Amino acid sequence: MRNKKVVLGVTGGIAAYKACDLTSKLIQSGAHVKVVMTKSALEFVSPLTFQALSRNPVHTAVFDEKDPQKIAHIDLADWADIVIIAPATANLIGKLSNGLGDDMLTTILLATKAPVYIAPAMNVNMYAHPAIKANMEQLAAWGYNFIEPQAGFLACGWIGKGRLEEPQTIIDAISTHMQRDLLLTGKHVLISAGPTREKVDPVRFFTNRSSGKMGFAFAEVAAQLGATVTIVSGPVSLRSKHPSINRVDVTTAEEMYEAMHHHFHAADIVIKAAAVADYRPKKIYDEKMKKQPGDLHIEMIRTKDILQSLGAQKKHQFLVGFAAETENPIENGKGKLERKNLDAIVVNDVKMKGAGFAGDTNVVTYIDKTMQTTEIPLASKHEIAEKVFEKIIYTLNQGEK
Ligand code: PMT
Repeated sequence: MRNKKVVLGVTGGIAAYKACDLTSKLIQSGAHVKVVMTKSALEFVSPLTFQALSRNPVHTAVFDEKDPQKIAHIDLADWADIVIIAPATANLIGKLSNGLGDDMLTTILLATKAPVYIAPAMNVNMYAHPAIKANMEQLAAWGYNFIEPQAGFLACGWIGKGRLEEPQTIIDAISTHMQRDLLLTGKHVLISAGPTREKVDPVRFFTNRSSGKMGFAFAEVAAQLGATVTIVSGPVSLRSKHPSINRVDVTTAEEMYEAMHHHFHAADIVIKAAAVADYRPKKIYDEKMKKQPGDLHIEMIRTKDILQSLGAQKKHQFLVGFAAETENPIENGKGKLERKNLDAIVVNDVKMKGAGFAGDTNVVTYIDKTMQTTEIPLASKHEIAEKVFEKIIYTLNQGEK
């Protein structure tokens, strides 16, 4: 934290008293701290406490402009290297996720380009409310970082998750995260996601159950790690939430082939999480096919294998394939790794509970070029993507590519 300029936002919850200790610890670690308090926070702690601890004036009102040469909330937003909100109430999280700026803290949050770390603290049932969860997911997708509250005895008398994390743990988590943040800076990550659609006629097509969640999780994690990200996505109902992700929408396997090859030369890491059709109808009818007596036979022809083609062309790129298997997953995955000239493959046994298509979780085995396998047990697709990137970054740092 040495010489880091920290704006510390304090909102109105009983855990505001812990923000005093956090301020003190930040100062001791060498940071410069400016505290911003919401109106409700003033009910819990006096600004004088934070002023004495931070040795800086405390900001409490957006229109309290002391220097006519500056607009205070923009000045603070630009000054900050890091913004921390501790404790963050449900109200603050709700306002930020809806783009509201009605006080000093929320206007700073909307204006700043600095990374923001949010440490929520509230009653266990408030924390579990679907509205809070949805707001936090939205903020996480936009690149906001959360320091989860602890479970334990809460001031309101309930026992459960909602207690503000300890100040030293907050500082440690932020320091670790900031170092991790740099890991993919300067790298271009290319990802494919979702299904493809292969048309039969104007109203019918062949597709599969891929939702795109796995690929989009990779894109979000890569962006959080500082990479420039391009995601080539088949038709999905997901939004590309992180503002720095470049999204290319495609429909067919042929279009995905073109888009992936177009972006391949500039990529450093390529992750092929898409479920691409292996076959498409030989003939696409211009008009809707009419019902006929008897059975219908549609002749299917092979699509191009995008991964195979990228594997044949790759130079500096670290190429990661996926394998969706229903039998002998590891054996089949290793076969694909070798045949397609990959640097690694992520195998999911899509018959397993919690794994594969459409859900929010996955269970995978990461196999590297030396055929070493690492099992990643049931976890959210975001966590799976984080673990896979850890493996990739480790290999790249060892110079083993
Ligand atoms: O999107 P979700 O709902 O989150 O689901 C995630 C997922 C199950 C789709 C994902 O985890 C996954 O396993 N993706 C790969 C699915 C797949 O098509 O596997 P495969 O074993 O058929 O293909 C092997 C690899 O070759 C894949 O990287 C695939 O992208 C690639 N391929 C396949 C066919 C083709 N014509 N071109 C390709 O590039």
